[in-house]
Amino acid sequence: MSEKANFSNIYKFYDLVNTVLTLGFDKSWRKKAVNNLVGTSVLDLGSGTGAAYEELINYETTAIDPDKKMLELNTFENKVLGFAEKLPFEDNSFDNILCSFVWRNVSDTNKAFNEVYRVLRPGGKFVLLDMTRPKNSFAKILHKIGTFIVLHLIGLITFNLKEYRFLYKSLDFYPQPENHLKKDAFIDLQIERMGLFDFVYLAVFTK
Ligand SMILES: C[S@@+](CC[C@H](N)C(=O)[O-])C[C@H]1O[C@@H](n2cnc3c(N)ncnc32)[C@H](O)[C@@H]1O
Repeated sequence: MSEKANFSNIYKFYDLVNTVLTLGFDKSWRKKAVNNLVGTSVLDLGSGTGAAYEELINYETTAIDPDKKMLELNTFENKVLGFAEKLPFEDNSFDNILCSFVWRNVSDTNKAFNEVYRVLRPGGKFVLLDMTRPKNSFAKILHKIGTFIVLHLIGLITFNLKEYRFLYKSLDFYPQPENHLKKDAFIDLQIERMGLFDFVYLAVFTK
């Protein structure tokens, strides 16, 4: 990923944009992601404003995000300022790491992936939910046109064109998850597609 955008400018609209882009299905997909968790503790990586709060109500959750303004709005009690690339936790600290709608914004996913593995306890789950492009070429073109129009329009209306342009481009930062995500030291990896034209993926890694 070569660019950066200042999300502090758009923190108030971030959740709304997520809901628009996922056509309102983000909540049900988070619920589906949470169904894969084990044990009791969860690190909500890139927690933002705490959109997963209701789904994680029965877990001991630590929310981490690099954006101060997002964290101010975050509903979790236990909040930490920090990046996925350098997690401020001991080895084997969590039963689960949930990372929803974040991964394509992470600058160095190799570093982040190693950190996730380190702080997850053996047998723990790394549950990754994010948007990508549809696999089918025609659906991909339609998705590109749709997201281009919606995100540039929101950018113009809210005077934050740079940030929303970044969000549009971020959908193409990484190759398709089936080609890009590797099990490495994890013992298992399952990838599932969801949503209209399969533009959302859920990847569940077991350590
Ligand atoms: C779309 S929000 C997702 C919020 C929430 N997880 C959800 O399910 O809606 C993306 C979040 O990722 C955070 N983020 C961006 N880069 C990050 C990084 N390198 N490490 C951790 N979080 C990051 C942003 O600050 C933002 O709060």
